[in-house]
Parts: sequence; structure tokens; C-alpha cells
Amino acid sequence: MKFTNKTVFITGAAGGIGRQTGLSFAKEGANVAVSDLDFDMAERVANEIKSAGGIAEPFKLDVTNQNETIETMNNAYNHFGGLDVAFCNAGIREIISPLELSIEEWRKVIDINVTGVFITAQTFAKHCIKEKIKGNIVITSSTLSVTAAPNRCAYTSSKHATAGMTKQLAIDFAKYDIRVNAVGPGVIRTPLTERYFQDEEASQKVRNLHAMKRWGEPNEISSAVLYLASEEASFCTGTNLIVDGGWTAGKDW
Ligand SMILES: NC(=O)c1ccc[n+]([C@@H]2O[C@H](COP(=O)([O-])OP(=O)(O)OC[C@H]3O[C@@H](n4cnc5c(N)ncnc54)[C@H](O)[C@@H]3O)[C@@H](O)[C@H]2O)c1
Repeated sequence: MKFTNKTVFITGAAGGIGRQTGLSFAKEGANVAVSDLDFDMAERVANEIKSAGGIAEPFKLDVTNQNETIETMNNAYNHFGGLDVAFCNAGIREIISPLELSIEEWRKVIDINVTGVFITAQTFAKHCIKEKIKGNIVITSSTLSVTAAPNRCAYTSSKHATAGMTKQLAIDFAKYDIRVNAVGPGVIRTPLTERYFQDEEASQKVRNLHAMKRWGEPNEISSAVLYLASEEASFCTGTNLIVDGGWTAGKDW
């Protein structure tokens, strides 16, 4: 098992991608700190991991709150006796014309998707430096970190920021032996995207976005996250690994 005796801290761990990544890390022997804004859901995911034979603990965490993040990571460290990987994954998005997007909604998306990722990564890096741990940070970006889609101005801006932050933190943290990488999913069927699948026409549109003519499943993202966090990726840092069934490779015309 690749992550025996390692502890992974996941934000947004109760959602589709976070949950699957927690299950996948646990299957490879990791202890999983399952953190989410929604504690009840985090608890459910932690119980699911435990039922599958893994080790997990739920934590309530709003990633936009710096003090709460510091306290929660300390609690996770004390609970498991270590912290080796941070998966900065919590995120939300809007679907609305940029002409109608309120400044409150813009700030909310940027706060969670950019500032929240920064707070998690910074808190974790300080911990690694203090404890002299060769740490690993993986950030969930998106295809919209390299391209755009209609009516997602705050989301696209936030995800482009995560791609920049990944490169920036990679060069600033390399001297501490902390690698920083991102995974950029195409459309993955999760609670975030569930409404795309409510009718056949919308589902077909989603399929057609991808060269492979299908959407992705959460385990196709978790496998990329595990790779980047593993020793197999020991020379990877600053990478934004797009996992999108060919969406951004080009258009079929
Ligand atoms: N599903 C996709 O198609 C897709 C594609 C590209 C990128 N992503 C990204 O993947 C990540 C996970 O998405 P998902 O599809 O699993 O979504 P999801 O909605 O299923 O899960 C997101 C989780 O984040 C939590 N969350 C929201 N605000 C939070 C906050 N302030 N603090 C802590 N937790 C918070 C939610 O409670 C939820 O459990 C997001 O960053 C998203 O932008 C998803």
C-alpha cells in the first residue's frame, strides 16, 4: 500500500470528488482527516471509510476561516500523530451571466475557491516546515483553469488562480521539500454537477464536451490525486494535470 503510516487532510471531503479521494487514500493505507463545511456529511464519509476497513476522522471546517483551519489541522495532527498530504479540494461555482453576477456571489466563489485553497496550503506548509515533513499539496483546479465556459466568470477566474497558485507555491516551497500540484477535472458526476444529468439533452451536451464522449467518474480524479501525492511523482511539482477525457485537447469540427 502506497500511503501506509501517512495522513491525508482533505477539504470538501464530503462531496463527490473529496469523498472518493478519501476512500481511495484509505484503501492505500492512509489515515484520512475528512473535513467539510457540512459536518454531518463529513461524519457519514468518515464512517463509510471506516466500514470499508480504513482509518478516518471527521472534522467541521470552513476553508475561508483561517483560525478554524489552523485549529482543525492541529486537531487532525494530534489525532493521527502526523499530517503528510493536504488535498485542497473544497469549491463551489456559480452559473449566471457576468452581467447579473452580484459582487457578493463573486466574492463568495473567490473566497472559497482561491482564498480557501491558499489558507489550507499555507497552514499545511507551515506545519510541514515546523515538523520537518516532506509534504505534499494537491489542489483541485478544473478544465476551467485553462479554458472558459459560458456564465462562470467567478468560477473560471478562481480556477485560473488555482493554476497560478500551484506554480507559485511549487517554486516557493521546493526548498522545504514540499511538492505542490493540481488536478484539473473535466465534468465529473458529483452533487456539484448533478443538475446537468437531469435531462437527456443536457447529458448529451456534457458528453459532447469531451473527445471521449462521456463524463468522468470521481475515481478517475482520485487516481490522479493519489499519483501526484505519491513517491511515484517525486519529480513533479507545479504541474496542473488536466484529467478531462480530451475536453481541452481541441474541438471536434
Ligand atoms: N464535479 C466536477 O465536474 C468538477 C470539475 C472540475 C473541478 N471540480 C472541482 O472539484 C472540487 C470538488 O467538487 P465536487 O464536484 O466534489 O463538488 P461537491 O459539491 O460534490 O463537493 C464540494 C464540497 O465542498 C464543501 N464546501 C463548500 N464550501 C465549503 C467551505 N467554505 N469550506 C469547506 N468545505 C466547503 C461542500 O460542503 C461539499 O461537500 C471543487 O473544487 C470543484 O470546483 C469539480
